[in-house]
Amino acid sequence: MKLLHLAGIYIHIPFCKQKCHYCNFYSTVSLKYRKEFYNALIREIKSRIDYLGTEEVNTIYFGGGTPSMLSTEDLSNIINALYSTYNVSKDVEITLEANPDDLTKDQIYDIKNHTPINRLSIGIQSFFDDDLVYLNRVHNSVQAQKSIETALIAGFDNMTIDLIYGIPTLTDKKWKENLVRFFEYGIPHLSSYSLTVEEKTALDVLIKKQKLENINEEQSINHFNILLEETEKKNFVHYEISNFALEGYYSKHNSIYWLGGHYMGLGPSAHSYNGIARQWNVMSVKRYCEEANPINIIEEKEVLTTDQMYNEYLLTSLRTSWGCDIEHITNVFGNKYKTHFLKNIDQVIKENKVMCKGNIYTLTSMGKIFADGISSSLFYGL
Ligand SMILES: C[S@@+](CC[C@H](N)C(=O)[O-])C[C@H]1O[C@@H](n2cnc3c(N)ncnc32)[C@H](O)[C@@H]1O
Ligand code: SF4
Repeated sequence: MKLLHLAGIYIHIPFCKQKCHYCNFYSTVSLKYRKEFYNALIREIKSRIDYLGTEEVNTIYFGGGTPSMLSTEDLSNIINALYSTYNVSKDVEITLEANPDDLTKDQIYDIKNHTPINRLSIGIQSFFDDDLVYLNRVHNSVQAQKSIETALIAGFDNMTIDLIYGIPTLTDKKWKENLVRFFEYGIPHLSSYSLTVEEKTALDVLIKKQKLENINEEQSINHFNILLEETEKKNFVHYEISNFALEGYYSKHNSIYWLGGHYMGLGPSAHSYNGIARQWNVMSVKRYCEEANPINIIEEKEVLTTDQMYNEYLLTSLRTSWGCDIEHITNVFGNKYKTHFLKNIDQVIKENKVMCKGNIYTLTSMGKIFADGISSSLFYGL
């Protein structure tokens, strides 16, 4: 599967109804700039016309924050602005990240009938109320089930859900039950993340104050192994460390990130990469909305060095089922990097964390638990 030539557009919607304890993605619960944000986003869409050049846009992804807080009318207008400004492919994948509490029957049918959104990603996290309370999610388990059932009846066949494991309240039995429910729905894609305590989040503070139980690494590893076993039994391909799909249902958009494709990020805190440089927008809705000159919403821009490009290639490729290709390293980065890679890969192969088939190196089941550590042991110049 070669996706390197695909290009995508990411749109960051920076609002949430309530901040989940564990989340450090940029978002605000204040809706003060809601209207201005829409206008600023349309302004940015029109002003970034040169970023992807004439490249065809194969994917559009509304992420957040909580994109499902936007009205269907706003979503439609944003998509129309993209179509009229960019060279959008006829079979574009358009994903909306949605929270279960927003997905009422009316909203789901409105999205289905009045927008070209053709992929829904629902943030379920767990089908159990005590886990949702631990995470400080705004929705409950009934809303979680209803949102999926209604979306399926409305005809969203290209759908994915997010589930979090390693939550202290989530026993092995409950985790298996979450997976059974997922399979029962016949949804073709699953993103599943190990609960991570990010610095300075409410979760971090509450754990330090001993107001919430800490996470347990052994439990997370157990859950990950259960996840690998259960998805394999159902013929789901583990195509990226946190992503599982039936053939034909891989996320095209996320594959662009993992396979080095080009993407343009719009909205506060969004990242962009065009093969040469990467850049970030400001992490402030206020500044994003008040800045009349779009150039000033760029917080930082950096041209990648070959070391950085090689390290990023390792970090992303090793996390995927397509793996890391030694021929790609030699052809794109040069012999220096090939020699460095071959010198260091032996150790992780001996430890049974990486396997090699021809030119391709992939993680073993054990290696998947240590993915980031393995990549960094192969980094150049650090
Ligand atoms: C940033 S959210 C955006 C989507 C949407 N707002 C939602 O919450 O469903 C994307 C996903 O990242 C995952 N996530 C974010 N922070 C995480 C953390 N610290 N540990 C594990 N998963 C996390 C959650 O599963 C979440 O659904
Ligand atoms: S996980 Fe989703 S809903 Fe919760 S705070 Fe983060 S972006 Fe908002």
